[in-house]
Amino acid sequence: MTQFLKIIAFSLVIISLFAIYSNLGIPQIKPAPPPSQEAVDVSSMDMGSFIVLGEKLFNGKGTCTLCHNAVGGRAPMLDKLTESIAPRLEDTAYKGTATDIAGYLIESMNEPSVYVVKGFGKLGTNDQESPMPDVRVGSIGFSEAETLAVIAYLQDASGLDITVSIPTDVEEPVPAAEPAAAGAERAKYTSGEEIVAKLGCGACHKIAQFEGALGPDLTHIGSTRDINNLRQSILNPMADITEGFAPMMPPIYGEQLYASELEMLVEYMASLK
Ligand code: HEC
Ligand code: HEC
Repeated sequence: MTQFLKIIAFSLVIISLFAIYSNLGIPQIKPAPPPSQEAVDVSSMDMGSFIVLGEKLFNGKGTCTLCHNAVGGRAPMLDKLTESIAPRLEDTAYKGTATDIAGYLIESMNEPSVYVVKGFGKLGTNDQESPMPDVRVGSIGFSEAETLAVIAYLQDASGLDITVSIPTDVEEPVPAAEPAAAGAERAKYTSGEEIVAKLGCGACHKIAQFEGALGPDLTHIGSTRDINNLRQSILNPMADITEGFAPMMPPIYGEQLYASELEMLVEYMASLK
């Protein structure tokens, strides 16, 4: 019996040591609350709510701020459209068909390569091809109503009159990414592919079905990088910048994934040979 109690006591010591170690020694990864998909009927909205929807899409589902931000400097800012866009329409190099700012914005979002802002083209294409994704497909996947909402938001943010109108004939309600209540649990991701799709890695990388072009092609990344290296490139992207690329990989994914999901993601990448 005393032997038995000794074993119990010993186990408790080990368990509490482990608990202490795991709290102090292992980085605690607490995922940020996930966006919950809430359906919104745009046809019953007023312009104010349509603009708010556009702002949410710009910062959330559209992942626009991953590239269009004041820090990375890898995409033009979109907050002073009269100054930036109006001269582009007059530029003799402009070969698109837009005649006003709203038209130019739609064109930029749907066919980004029609006009590439100088210095912002895809590497090695001499500004002939844009690294900006077509927002209708791939990792962004906007409906027409969502594109129009973002344009209303951008016009409003630049102090312009809103010239787009709210579509009244949309069949599908628009899912708006609302931040979930603090502390809310989300369903765990179940595969590396799902994580790549949900986190929008494909906006910048060629991986799975995505064709992003701002970061390195990851379709064979497992043949040049091992698991530890891949984990590092997610948790601390600034530590080792891949040659020829701008340091613009967002350092946010460590906070958005459970530890087990992070492992799933790096194992998936390691398998891409
Ligand atoms: C992967 C990075 C990336 C993402 C994500 C992205 N963009 Fe861009 N965008 C760019 C780059 C780079 C350019 C400049 C090259 C060009 O002219 O196409 C650009 C250009 C533009 C332009 C033209 C700007 C100008 O001054 O002429 C608009 C408008 C625009 N993006 C809107 C958006 C919106 C809205 C979203 C989100 C739905 C978005 N972008 C998402 C990289 C990105
Ligand atoms: C806004 C654009 C952008 C997004 C979004 C993005 N990355 Fe990156 N990523 C880059 C750039 C640019 C580099 C190269 C510069 C560097 O090493 O930091 C890079 C580097 C990497 C590397 C190292 C590649 C190599 O050649 O060693 C990996 C792995 C990677 N990213 C994975 C991901 C994953 C997984 C996601 C989604 C969870 C993601 N990235 C999202 C831009 C992005």
